[in-house]
Amino acid sequence: MKKRILIVNDEEALLVQLKDVLKGMGMDIYTAQNGIEALHKLAERNFNIVLADLKMPKMDGLQLLENIKKSYPNTYVVIMSGFGQIPQAVKAMKLGAYDFIQKPFDIDLLRLSLKKLLQTQDIIEENISLRKEVEEKYDFHHIVGKNYKMRKIYELITLAAEKDTTTLIWGETGTGKELIAKAIHYHSPRKKKSLIIVNCPAIPESLLESELFGHEKGSFTGAHTQRIGRFELAHQGTILLDEIGDFPLSMQGKLLRFLQDKEIRRVGGRDTLNLDVRILLATNRNLEELVSQGKFREDLYYRVNVLSISIPPLRERVDDIPLLAEHFLKKYAGLHNREENNISADAMNSLIQYPWPGNVRELENVIEKAVLLNKGETIDRFDLSILQKIPLYFGEADMYMPVETDLPYKEIKERLLNNWEREYLKGVLSKNSGNITQAAKQAGLNYKTFYEKLLKHSIDRKQFKK
Ligand SMILES: Nc1ncnc2c1ncn2[C@@H]1O[C@H](COP(=O)(O)OP(=O)(O)OP(=O)(O)O)[C@@H](O)[C@H]1O
Ligand SMILES: [Mg+2]
Repeated sequence: MKKRILIVNDEEALLVQLKDVLKGMGMDIYTAQNGIEALHKLAERNFNIVLADLKMPKMDGLQLLENIKKSYPNTYVVIMSGFGQIPQAVKAMKLGAYDFIQKPFDIDLLRLSLKKLLQTQDIIEENISLRKEVEEKYDFHHIVGKNYKMRKIYELITLAAEKDTTTLIWGETGTGKELIAKAIHYHSPRKKKSLIIVNCPAIPESLLESELFGHEKGSFTGAHTQRIGRFELAHQGTILLDEIGDFPLSMQGKLLRFLQDKEIRRVGGRDTLNLDVRILLATNRNLEELVSQGKFREDLYYRVNVLSISIPPLRERVDDIPLLAEHFLKKYAGLHNREENNISADAMNSLIQYPWPGNVRELENVIEKAVLLNKGETIDRFDLSILQKIPLYFGEADMYMPVETDLPYKEIKERLLNNWEREYLKGVLSKNSGNITQAAKQAGLNYKTFYEKLLKHSIDRKQFKK
């Protein structure tokens, strides 16, 4: 959007001149004859800059400045002062003017000051919108992540929250399925009602029906009292059926019926109850495969797969690892009353290298342990409990060092040298755009030796051609 400037001056000739001077700066220019008129204009629309004279009838520049500071804190004021008005100009600066320009003014200086001001405003605005974006997108209801796949997921969460449809959340263990289910519920119109989470495999098959739908007193041995089931508890709210892949076949039919009729019958009860429950399902199993194995009803699968959210494993969004690590560091430093440390570059590189089979939950655990182990210094790679499982990373050289201390010294050294040699050759080749003669020269090796080394490591020079 074009920036707006308001020039306030009681001398008509000066207004015309200033308008002319500022014309080429890409701003919409407005004018006012005095402070009062300026305030009227400010009330009508937003201005980025007010360029005001100090001495004016009715309301002078200082009074105008004070008014603007109070009512329009995002509008910047530049004061024009005449000869011998330095004390007032200083006062204006103290009151929060952005700058003051002395009359008769140097046109270039005036332009420069305004240009700088516009740039400052841009930076501030950018920062504000960036912060907003960070809040909205990178921390979407406690879900941390800015990877493009995660951003897609935030869109899907918003969609799932708006629509009331049954939603299937799929992802490996520890990828954040429950977190996403919560985000959907708490963004949906049902947020003021309950979110009931049922961990299906934790309930014995024989009790599952009564647990979900409730039972009447005396409906089976041990049913001493009437019991309200989880679906009833979720009335007008949401139910999350977690690990739905493990849902027994016998119950799958009952669930399907609920999805069709929206009614339940308590075990041993005669009447049906109409319920308004939104269903979310989560699983780490491949439901299609389960369907083909006859373990999951096909009709149920189609019914629940209307809207599905598939969460990528952490190894497919490595760019989020630092963000998540910092997030957990903050969380656990606070929780365990530890100082908020940094994570060393080496440790971070190790975190990035690790394939994270347990996904975000595993990362969370590793960071928590590191916080507990650490004695108030930067978190080092040796604080990481996964250390034994990952190759160490050498900062800039892009080189991995095997870390198993139970291997013989010679073997480790051999591997290390090999890795180093390979990375070195690649680096030099890349610098010389794949030209072997030049690369060998830079390395201080003769052509033949260099070439043989490339063969040894199966490095293809063409890969580095620019
Ligand atoms: N993107 C994320 N940002 C912040 N924390 C996350 C994120 N993803 C997961 N977590 C955290 O990781 C842990 C595991 O997440 P959650 O329980 O939602 O995973 P899950 O997929 O349901 O796991 P499981 O398959 O084992 O049930 C939780 O403590 C959760 O808060
Ligand atoms: Mg879970």
